[in-house]
Amino acid sequence: MPIDGGEAGAYPFPMTKLSPYKVHGFVCTNDRNGERRSCADGDAVEVRALLKKKIKEKGLWGDHVRISSSGCLGLCSEGPNVVLYPSGRVFTETTINDVERIVDEIVAIVEKR
Ligand code: FES
Repeated sequence: MPIDGGEAGAYPFPMTKLSPYKVHGFVCTNDRNGERRSCADGDAVEVRALLKKKIKEKGLWGDHVRISSSGCLGLCSEGPNVVLYPSGRVFTETTINDVERIVDEIVAIVEKR
């Protein structure tokens, strides 16, 4: 049986599985070096670092939560952007002052799942 619990052969790729994380957050850190707006123009790198630090402090890193850098999420004019999966909620125009709110949302999701 496939690791995702689905029917054998139902999915066309033989090597698939569900994400091991309850929440996987992606922080766009794309940098266009001033050619046009990108998330690295704002606090994106700092937001990612602080988000990881706070999640680790809460003991959620690894088994429950992963925070990754991402390339462009296609919402450049609203960046820096953070998206959480599986909810798909996007936090726009984030600064380091928004990290606590994002952490609170992650904690709420982890507690529900
Ligand atoms: S550069 Fe971040 S969404 Fe495009």
